[in-house]
Amino acid sequence: MMDADSWDVDPADVVDASGTESELEFESSLRPKALDEFVGQTKVRSQLELLLKAAELQQRTPDHILLAGPPGLGKTTLAMIVANETGRSLRLTSGPALQNAGDLAAVLSSMVEGEVLFIDEIHRMARTAEEMLYLAMEDFRIDIMVGKGAGAQSVPLDLAPFTVVGATTRAGLLPAPLRDRFGFTAHLEFYETHELERVLARTANLLELEVSEPALAQLAGRSRGTPRIANRLLRRVRDYALVHQTVADAAAVDSALALYDVDAQGLDRLDRAVLETLITRFNGGPVGVKTLAVTVGEEAETVEAVVEPFLVRIGMIARTQRGRIATPAAYAHLGHAMPEGR
Ligand SMILES: Nc1ncnc2c1ncn2[C@@H]1O[C@H](COP(=O)(O)OP(=O)(O)OP(=O)(O)O)[C@@H](O)[C@H]1O
Ligand SMILES: [Mg+2]
Repeated sequence: MMDADSWDVDPADVVDASGTESELEFESSLRPKALDEFVGQTKVRSQLELLLKAAELQQRTPDHILLAGPPGLGKTTLAMIVANETGRSLRLTSGPALQNAGDLAAVLSSMVEGEVLFIDEIHRMARTAEEMLYLAMEDFRIDIMVGKGAGAQSVPLDLAPFTVVGATTRAGLLPAPLRDRFGFTAHLEFYETHELERVLARTANLLELEVSEPALAQLAGRSRGTPRIANRLLRRVRDYALVHQTVADAAAVDSALALYDVDAQGLDRLDRAVLETLITRFNGGPVGVKTLAVTVGEEAETVEAVVEPFLVRIGMIARTQRGRIATPAAYAHLGHAMPEGR
């Protein structure tokens, strides 16, 4: 353990060594604050709009909402928008922070009526906290254990009504009873290129950066269907244009993305490593996704939540009963010949 005295640096005094805004600040400065600023996901947007409006008309707290989808598609952004649009305050916590029922009890017992409780990575909550959450979401009530051992007693505590907004990159890992307690589950999809162009145009505008139309289109097509990646790549293009004293045009996009190993389809090093391994080490599959992850030296969670969904979406990996297989498109993209008889 570190003693208290050795921890006397005020975090506010720590300056980002790179001299640029930190990644987190950059992201939050770009977050749309209202539903109609939020680009794409039209279905989810109308679903949310209806749900929030109905709750407002009935003067009650909105139903619990689960936001599911790969990283960087806007789950945290939407949670903030839900609070914003309904004029409620937002409490933030996350699955990994809720390691036992007591952690959750502490959060819940201090909630104010009508607040929005955002639980990020909700699939990583401890089982005991999960069970407490069932009751809290359904009846706005929890049982708190007081005392220890044989003298321990369970004391019921009523909670003021609130709305849980859960976010997960792995909806499949949520136990059914928890999933069932959400009145609405929004499945966020990868964005279309034209939608990412709008995200990028908005960001360029906020950064006061002039980017040519073809450059925006190029970037959008190479952003893995993900606004977070689009914004990051735009920042690298801004760097490139600044350093090379050039305009942010298609040629600058090309050079900047080549430097960061983003290929023409938007695949990054890890995407390509997974495909390459699948093709050369496992003869195109089928192979289990965990084995694949171990072989490329990456966490199974990352391969399952980040790499695989996009490769499936663009048709380079197919899921079968017996595991993952590389499609002809994957062979073609990596420049490998398909083996005989496949
Ligand atoms: N629909 C959108 N329109 C404009 N910008 C967006 C949209 N969705 C996401 N973004 C931008 O992308 C970034 C990442 O979004 P966000 O943090 O909400 O993703 P997330 O789904 O919560 O990801 P994670 O699973 O990693 O927590 C934010 O900076 C946000 O500004
Ligand atoms: Mg998030």
